[in-house]
Parts: sequence; structure tokens; C-alpha cells
Amino acid sequence: MLILNKKASDCSESEVTDKSIYLNRRQFMKVTGGIALGVGGIGHAAAALQEGNPLSPPSSLKSSFDNIVETSFGKDDKLSPYDVATSYNNFYEFGYGKSDPKERSSQLKTTPWTITVEGEAAKTGVFDLDGIIKESMLEERIYRLRCVEAWSMVIPWVGVSLATVLKRFEPTSKAKYVYFETLYDPKQMPGQLGSGLDWPYREGLRIDEAMNPLAFLAVGMYGSILPNQNGAPVRLVLPWKYGFKSIKSIVKIRFVETMPETTWSMLAPNEYGFYANVNPNVDHPRWSQQQERRLPGGVLFPNVIETKMFNGYEEEVASLYAGMDLKRFY
Ligand code: MTE
Repeated sequence: MLILNKKASDCSESEVTDKSIYLNRRQFMKVTGGIALGVGGIGHAAAALQEGNPLSPPSSLKSSFDNIVETSFGKDDKLSPYDVATSYNNFYEFGYGKSDPKERSSQLKTTPWTITVEGEAAKTGVFDLDGIIKESMLEERIYRLRCVEAWSMVIPWVGVSLATVLKRFEPTSKAKYVYFETLYDPKQMPGQLGSGLDWPYREGLRIDEAMNPLAFLAVGMYGSILPNQNGAPVRLVLPWKYGFKSIKSIVKIRFVETMPETTWSMLAPNEYGFYANVNPNVDHPRWSQQQERRLPGGVLFPNVIETKMFNGYEEEVASLYAGMDLKRFY
């Protein structure tokens, strides 16, 4: 990866290995062990390989990838345990409780999986996910995700830079925004039978946000393929934004000229803006945004920390919003 202005989260060229190989669940899985996890994750990775460890993916999911690029993203952060990251989720297609996604998502069929690309781009059509990912370099990045209800986790995501994928479709100069949509299939996603949200789940980014090197398309976590409850087989990870922007189980990408409607800004525009940048200085109408609970944490050890501007990624993304009133564009 060639980035001229090196930020704390950039990886160095020496950390980049050969073109990666993406293997899906049905293919032979070559065990690369702890080395496959990023620089910052090696200590955790060694522990993660012990069966029964709460940091570890179950053996049925282990080591789904080969040749993951080692990066230094998030090397100073302590990882959240795997079992917490996969059992305390928001994925309303499977219910509104935090444990519903894990308990109710096993019937979601994630292979084969296609993504429809539409709109202002030279290359549109229906693309096989494995094909899209196979041709890109697979990396691991340890990113913090902070949800709007004030909890956060640190997760070693495996995937590709969103920009790499989007550029392959050759967006035109009219592509000012990118719109994303989740699968709509109430048979597999029983939560879609209920009212509440206007399905399918929708999200959007300004094109320069989407092309920012931090924006990530994840197909795995903790060295293994994404569990269904975390957005299998492919989801966004936007570490400087509140978690709801990180749309799961994506089936559609549309390049558009005007700001697209998104699930939460349609539902409650006074509470959830299009930008949704983590900002401790702008309160949610119903709660302060100044602190977060880093999971795991309990009654005795609440593990409450001060929230940082742009979730700590100010150096990387603040320039995207230069001159904007962030109290107005929340
Ligand atoms: N994507 C879809 N399709 N449906 C959802 O309900 N929830 C969002 C986001 N992506 C959601 C979604 C919210 S509110 C959050 S906080 C994050 O996913 C949670 O991601 P996690 O469960 O992996 O922590």
C-alpha cells in the first residue's frame, strides 16, 4: 500500500506480503496460525488458537484465510474477546435483542453470494463476492467500532480496503455518493417480517469518505470468516463513524449523484444524521456521547473510557470535513 503521508494507522511496505488468496468456507483452509493475525494481534492470536478460549473462533471457523497482509492498524489496542464480539450484536434483521443475531442467524445462507453494482460507474452488473475479494489484497486491521448506545469493541477485521473494490467498477465523475443495501429475504431474516425499520437496511457514504483508506470491506474477523451475526459474508467497517453506518450482509452497491436515503436518517433524522461521525462534542438528543463502555465490562468493572473525536482517527479523516459545522452535519 502506497500512502505518502504516513499516519499512525498506516502499514509499512515491509509489512505487505504477496497478493492474498481468499478461501471460502467450503475450500481447504490452510492454517497460518497467529502469523495471519496483524502485528498487534500476535499475542492475542496465540491465545486465540487455544480451543475453548473466549478469544478464539470455534474450530469450525478457524483459519479461513491464507496470506493475510500484516498491518500495524490498532496495534496498541487490546482486542475484545471473540465471544463478546459475536454474542452482543446489532443486526435487526434477526431481532432487536443483543443476543438475537447470534441465536437467530444460523439459517442465513452466505454462499454463493452476489453483489449487484448499479448507477454511475463504467462497470455495473451482478458480481460474485468471492471473485471480487479474490482479486484484492486481503489485510487484517484492528479497528475500534463504537456504537451509538455507547459501547465499543476492538476487533481484528479481515478484508480489503473499500476503495480498492469500488475503483474496480470505475465510478464516473457523477458518482458523488455510494449507496449500500443489505439482503432482503424475510425467510432467512425473520426480523424483516416485523415492523420497525423500513427494509432493506440501507446506508450511504460520500464518495471521498468511501475512498478514504480507513474505510474497509470486511469478510472476516479474528482470522476467520465473519460469523453470520457480524454481517457475513461481507460488511462495511467504518471505524470513525458510529456503528450503524457499518452495514452488514451487503448485496447492492449503487453509485449515485445525490445523497442517498439511509435507514436511520429516514427513521429518525433528528437523532441519526447521514455523517454519523463519532463526536463526543455533539450529544445524541437522548444521551451524552462523551463516554463509552469498552466491552467486556460489567457492574464491578464498567470499563468506561472517554470517547475520542472521530473515534481516535482524527488524523486520518478530519480533513474530509474541513469547514463543515459538525453540529449541523452530525
Ligand atoms: N447492518 C444491518 N444490515 N442491519 C443492522 O441492524 N446494525 C448496525 C450495523 N450494521 C445493522 C447493520 C448497528 S446499529 C451496529 S452498532 C453495528 O452493525 C453492529 O455491528 P456488530 O454487531 O458487528 O458489533
